Amino acid sequence: MDPMQTGPAQVFSTDPEPGIPVRHPAGALSKDIPRYWYGGDAFATHFMDALSSTFPFGEAFFVRAVLHYRDRIGDPALQKRIRGFAGQEGQHSRVHEQHVRMLVEQGYPAIEARNRFVDRIARWHNRRLPLLSLTMTASLEHLTAILARQVLSDPDRRTGNMHPEMARLWRWHALEEAEHKSVAFDVLKEVAPGHARRVIVMALNTLGLGLEVFDRLVYMLWKDGLLFKASTWRNGWRFLFGRDGFLRGTGADYRSWYRRDFDPRQIDDRPLIEKNVALIEAEIMG
Ligand SMILES: [Fe+2]
Ligand SMILES: [Fe+2]
Repeated sequence: MDPMQTGPAQVFSTDPEPGIPVRHPAGALSKDIPRYWYGGDAFATHFMDALSSTFPFGEAFFVRAVLHYRDRIGDPALQKRIRGFAGQEGQHSRVHEQHVRMLVEQGYPAIEARNRFVDRIARWHNRRLPLLSLTMTASLEHLTAILARQVLSDPDRRTGNMHPEMARLWRWHALEEAEHKSVAFDVLKEVAPGHARRVIVMALNTLGLGLEVFDRLVYMLWKDGLLFKASTWRNGWRFLFGRDGFLRGTGADYRSWYRRDFDPRQIDDRPLIEKNVALIEAEIMG
């Protein structure tokens, strides 16, 4: 859905927020997930591996950033949503940690070492720079909401050629990112509603996350001996920006953040949540 069609400051509806239930997916990732679990394609798989591997420390950082300001929130409904947010992100962090362990077993140990290093920086950041941490969290949640929308808009096209366990994981995560997408933003609005800070932070975050994912992707492709093959990058370009590319068509949603009157609810994800929730819940409960 194009947020530009809504016009400035318009929120689609005053219906209640979607619920933020904490679900506990059954079991750990099994050992029979192939190295190239995303349609047999090295670039697509390692792109998602790279993204996924940032979630264990990243989502723990988000939770600490939001909980830091919990006492400043007077609205009991937002307090409840904060609890849901923390519970959902805690589950994501836990399951994506299993993915990191899988990557280590497949021969990419530097991912885990890097995560330990970045986690220490993230913890320091939460303690010393809590407002910047919260602003980063709200802006990164905008990016995860965009990716979630890509998955939920057409789950078969986005996840149909993944290994079934990975497909379940990504669909579940996408659903919950859509459900809790406005929590960090609402806390930020309560604590520090300024426009300039969140705009600058988003620009830096986009660059930072892009470089972090690219670095991890390059490492895995290098380990596989595929880094310097032209076909790897041709496939990669197609996967990200081609006709059905993963990032194709996300520009308007992304840019909406930079508007002074932006609110995550201007892009109404409730129809997507309602369409997908029953199936996703059934499949993650195994
Ligand atoms: Fe998450
Ligand atoms: Fe999230």
